[in-house]
Amino acid sequence: MTTTHKVIIGSSENLQEIQDRSIHLIVTSPPYFNAPFDYIDLYESYEQYLEVLSTVAKESFRVLADGRIFALNIDDMLINGEKFPITADATKIFQEAGFRYRDRLIWKKPDGYVRISRRSGVLLQNPYPMYFYPDNLLESIIIFQKGKFNYKSIDQTVRNLSKIDLNEFNKNKWYLTLWEMTNVLPNSELEKGIAAFPYELPYRIISLFSYKGETVLDPFAGSGTTLLAARRLERNSIGYEINAELISVIKEKLGFGINRDLFSNDDKFTIIDNH
Ligand SMILES: C[S@@+](CC[C@H](N)C(=O)[O-])C[C@H]1O[C@@H](n2cnc3c(N)ncnc32)[C@H](O)[C@@H]1O
Repeated sequence: MTTTHKVIIGSSENLQEIQDRSIHLIVTSPPYFNAPFDYIDLYESYEQYLEVLSTVAKESFRVLADGRIFALNIDDMLINGEKFPITADATKIFQEAGFRYRDRLIWKKPDGYVRISRRSGVLLQNPYPMYFYPDNLLESIIIFQKGKFNYKSIDQTVRNLSKIDLNEFNKNKWYLTLWEMTNVLPNSELEKGIAAFPYELPYRIISLFSYKGETVLDPFAGSGTTLLAARRLERNSIGYEINAELISVIKEKLGFGINRDLFSNDDKFTIIDNH
């Protein structure tokens, strides 16, 4: 199946290039408010950050087809000892934009992975009550839905083509609300400095919530992991990314760069630069 992939350089606060109800699935991971390492001081205030999420949620609701899913990978953020309740606030914001809050999956990283210095070390230095600061290995994937899905609206051939591999589903425990997935290392070659999520994340979401030939949107595309999973799974994709410097990374990741021969060359790749 030939697919098309489009990257729009600009802010996803305005999805003007996309028509109402033309997207079948949205998968994304927005910047985590002023995250240490990745997004220090990106937003002036927490309120401004929530405002951006709210605008993107409303635009996403407009472009999503009826019954379809928005999967939001996000988590609370610890900055200078204060935890910002992003997961709860984002859930409220998406509900206010019209979405149904359907599920919350927890992504667990391998036990050895702690990016910020080990907070738990405080207790090792001071083995007394009140010195407990746990190391965080978790992120959320919140599943929102726009109304109810009409299962009869999908052609039988497309249903068969998009069938989920039950061996993989059972073996990797997709059926649980706890998804154990290895994270992308911060210094990996293509994703350096991008806070990319692992390929497995959009791969599972796209397999579970869209059919072949449909269109997947990532409003915060980063290195283009969602677009790559969409291409491999024979879905079309659109990604918004505010940072024009990532064009070459996305191109390379999707197999439209120097190493072009990764997939069938009939697939189309376009860039719209609104920057
Ligand atoms: C957490 S990263 C996404 C990483 C992506 N999931 C991946 O696997 O590479 C968030 C991305 O959103 C971009 N971004 C921030 N604000 C944006 C906006 N308003 N519109 C579009 N992109 C934005 C950032 O430049 C960053 O690349």
